Amino acid sequence: MATISETIAAAQEAHLRPFDARRDLGAVADLVELCFKETLDPEGREYLGRMRAAANSPPWIGWAAKAEWSPPAMGGFVWQQDGILVGNVSLIPYYVKSQRFYLIANVAVHPDFRRQGIARRLTERAIAFARQRHAPSVWLHVREENQPAIQLYENLGFIERARRTTWYSAADFELAHLSPDERIVAPRADQWHSMRKWLTQNYPMELSWHMPLRINWLNPGITGGFYRFLYNAEIHQWALFERERLACAVSWQITASRANFFWLAAPAECAPRQVHALLAYVRQQIVAPRPMILDYPARQHEQALQAAGFIPRQTLIWMELPLSK
Ligand SMILES: CC(C)(COP(=O)(O)OP(=O)(O)OC[C@H]1O[C@@H](n2cnc3c(N)ncnc32)[C@H](O)[C@@H]1OP(=O)(O)O)[C@@H](O)C(=O)NCCC(=O)NCCS
Repeated sequence: MATISETIAAAQEAHLRPFDARRDLGAVADLVELCFKETLDPEGREYLGRMRAAANSPPWIGWAAKAEWSPPAMGGFVWQQDGILVGNVSLIPYYVKSQRFYLIANVAVHPDFRRQGIARRLTERAIAFARQRHAPSVWLHVREENQPAIQLYENLGFIERARRTTWYSAADFELAHLSPDERIVAPRADQWHSMRKWLTQNYPMELSWHMPLRINWLNPGITGGFYRFLYNAEIHQWALFERERLACAVSWQITASRANFFWLAAPAECAPRQVHALLAYVRQQIVAPRPMILDYPARQHEQALQAAGFIPRQTLIWMELPLSK
């Protein structure tokens, strides 16, 4: 005979099912909008718009129904209760060095159904799915002020691995003076060793796979030029030298999305004035109506970025749950 706890567990399982693109897409977009309305940025609204457009596209829905995984954020699990979709967890597969990992995203529970263990059950189910597929670990990111969610993830065993701040360019910035020993010019091919080292430190693959960054494209030498040509990437670069020593470098990548990107190659010990001077100089050179995004390790060069006219939009904690074999 089933125990009471087994009966409760079975009743809960009845609410939890895999996400089905054919019927859930619009409802998940509504739930995500409701749960994240205070923190939705323009990129988030664009993302929801794409979900809704896909929900209204019969060819896309037909294709998604046949695919093992639909496009990003279209896989995962939902919680349905009283005929309403009240909980969601999305699972996004991605590859780092040929290994498949999963990102847990869009964890959302309708306000009227919170504190009943729904998010915990959905997240546990997503973890079990990744484990069944032999993923080495699952990752997620959460805003550093979102204490309830951090608590939820820590209870499930997630460990903080990094904090990153997304900065957006504002209209105003201050120029910084250069000393007579300093100059800003294009980086040279023989600087690639240092640039690559700093870029790899500042943009490790496990934290940057979702951005349009391909580190080899930023090589100022022939190899980088070949990649940029091959992939039709429009990238402009500047470097600050102190005599012959490279202090820091920045690449400006023009993309098809709402904003363009700055990739900053600077060691943690770089003088803040030099980071400020380089970024402000480049901003003065660029006449671009679109904003610039700079994603960077949190708390590094904060004052220099602010002086160069960047405003912090959010700081995310990246958490990992290693999955045992
Ligand atoms: C965060 C959220 C998903 C939690 O959903 P939920 O179904 O209420 O969470 P659960 O009931 O499964 O709670 C599991 C654990 O999370 C923690 N938790 C959840 N809500 C909490 C709150 N308001 N305050 C403190 N801890 C909280 C607790 O440790 C809780 O365990 P406990 O109830 O045994 O103490 C929900 O509040 C939500 O949708 N928030 C808005 C969207 C969001 O921030 N999503 C996370 C993005 S990373």
